[in-house]
Amino acid sequence: MRDPRDTPAFANDLDAMRAHAWRQLARGVEDRRSPFHAPTVATVGLDGRPRLRTVVLRGVEPARARLRFHTDTRSEKVAELRRDARIALHAYDPVAKLQVRIEGAAVLHTADALAEEAWRGSRMASRACYATQPAPGRAIAVPDGFDLPESEDAILAGRAQFCAVEIVAETLETLWLARDGHRRARFVRRPDGSAEADCQEATWEDATWLVP
Ligand SMILES: Cc1cc2nc3c(=O)[nH]c(=O)nc-3n(C[C@H](O)[C@H](O)[C@H](O)COP(=O)(O)O)c2cc1C
Repeated sequence: MRDPRDTPAFANDLDAMRAHAWRQLARGVEDRRSPFHAPTVATVGLDGRPRLRTVVLRGVEPARARLRFHTDTRSEKVAELRRDARIALHAYDPVAKLQVRIEGAAVLHTADALAEEAWRGSRMASRACYATQPAPGRAIAVPDGFDLPESEDAILAGRAQFCAVEIVAETLETLWLARDGHRRARFVRRPDGSAEADCQEATWEDATWLVP
């Protein structure tokens, strides 16, 4: 039997479970070794199929239920999100034994203050990705048939293709694996009208344990 003193508070407290999930996500932004650093993001493909890919988690705002990653405006996922803003994020940390699933709406930032700050906060090596030619996802005749920018000016020109994607979480689901009993919980946010609405504190109205 598990010593109750070893049981973390989040095992039996929904608020603590939600806080734990956001803490792990925030750690993923800072800690490159955390599995939450590179979660999987799903969109609805232009043909209606589910589409998945890994992204680097660049920012998390637990109070506003927002997460951020960066991408190229020329990418398929941007076309998909322009058509259908619904987005989902998944990550599993085998050490923390925690799976997090988030569903929400994406807000694309290309020319506003948030995009500017995100661009300024990116390292030169990261910025270089946005100036590849031809565009990401284009078919090429040979495996290295693309150019990366060489000069600083060429790298900075990639700004035109830089997009910061904010995920506004609407539901959060956690699954924590424990020998003495898994814990699964779901949290639903009160809708704030639209994803663009600059909501204040996120209010999680509906929280419940689920059968794991
Ligand atoms: C570890 C890792 C991190 C990645 N990070 C990003 C990222 O932050 N942004 C991004 O657009 N693509 C990133 N990618 C590439 C995507 O997974 C994907 O291949 C690419 O963006 C094309 O996706 P799309 O065709 O769905 O737009 C990453 C891939 C890996 C393996």
